[in-house]
Amino acid sequence: MIEQATQIQAEALAAVEAANTEATLEEARVKFLGKKSPLNALAGEMRNLSNEEKPKLGAALNAARHAIGAALDTRKQSLQDAADAASVEGLDPSMPGRSVATGSLHPLTIVKDRAIQILRRLGFALADGPEIETEFHCFDALNTPADHPARNDSDTFYFDSGKLLRTHTSSVQVRTMEKQTPPVKIIAPGSAYRRDEIDATHLSVFNQLEGLYVDKDVRLSDLKGTLEFFYRAMFGDNTEVRFRPHFFPFTEPSFEIDVKLQVKGEAPKWIEVAGCGMVDPAVFEAINESRGDTAFDPAELTGYAFGMGLDRLAMIQYGIKDIRLLIENDTRFLSQFA
Ligand code: DAH
Repeated sequence: MIEQATQIQAEALAAVEAANTEATLEEARVKFLGKKSPLNALAGEMRNLSNEEKPKLGAALNAARHAIGAALDTRKQSLQDAADAASVEGLDPSMPGRSVATGSLHPLTIVKDRAIQILRRLGFALADGPEIETEFHCFDALNTPADHPARNDSDTFYFDSGKLLRTHTSSVQVRTMEKQTPPVKIIAPGSAYRRDEIDATHLSVFNQLEGLYVDKDVRLSDLKGTLEFFYRAMFGDNTEVRFRPHFFPFTEPSFEIDVKLQVKGEAPKWIEVAGCGMVDPAVFEAINESRGDTAFDPAELTGYAFGMGLDRLAMIQYGIKDIRLLIENDTRFLSQFA
């Protein structure tokens, strides 16, 4: 019987060796290790043996099962390896891989995100408003008279409906005060549109970041401190910031802000970066009229507002000489900011 076991083992190993598909290998497994295998049949005869012979046959059967199992595993692995090798035949794994082009943030996005990050630390919340605006939100509520040059057809894109593409993000001041009650402390980054002649510093679409803070006792010194902090956080601790008196219809007093900066390879110079001022009480009155209440009582409240050009910030930050690069989306330009 032990010989029989050895014989079956030899047959099984031959069958395993001969199997050259997974299916025939599986057939061999079922045949030699399945329930109806000849080894099991032999085991069934064990009871006819003497007590001395039983363990010997048991050992022989176990050895045969192990040997067959191991052979099956080895054969399975080599069939698998052969299949793997066939599937990559002709492929040269030493060739350099094809790189996947990953995108990167646009320089404007980088600068905008930084500006938002700095101002959020100072407690400003994000706000927004539509780019297609009414004359009321873009001009009238901002104390801008009907004969103001910004309202000309030649400066502003008007729709037949009388609506227009907002010429500045200051309209979001109005939108926000219509919806919220004081205190209001918001920033609103977004696009604005003007019928400008296109050149290296002008496009008909550009990007601004508006700010508005309305509360009791908001002072000009708060405005100055906040914006100085902002520009120093943006351009470095020693950056000089200057407030130059100016005129805007919706603030009184009003200023333009200059920052003294050194563009790479040039002498330091003052560069205008924003407009700002203390909210004109006439704006609060227009808001109250639109709201139909007195939530923005000019006798109680003061506020400051500012509007900065984001394209300008990006151009300064990265030494970009032509604003058109910001909208051409040439990947040779954009990939430099990755
Ligand atoms: N809206 C002005 C512009 O586009 C910028 C500006 C000036 C915004 C003064 C303000 C401000 O909020 O107070 O030129």
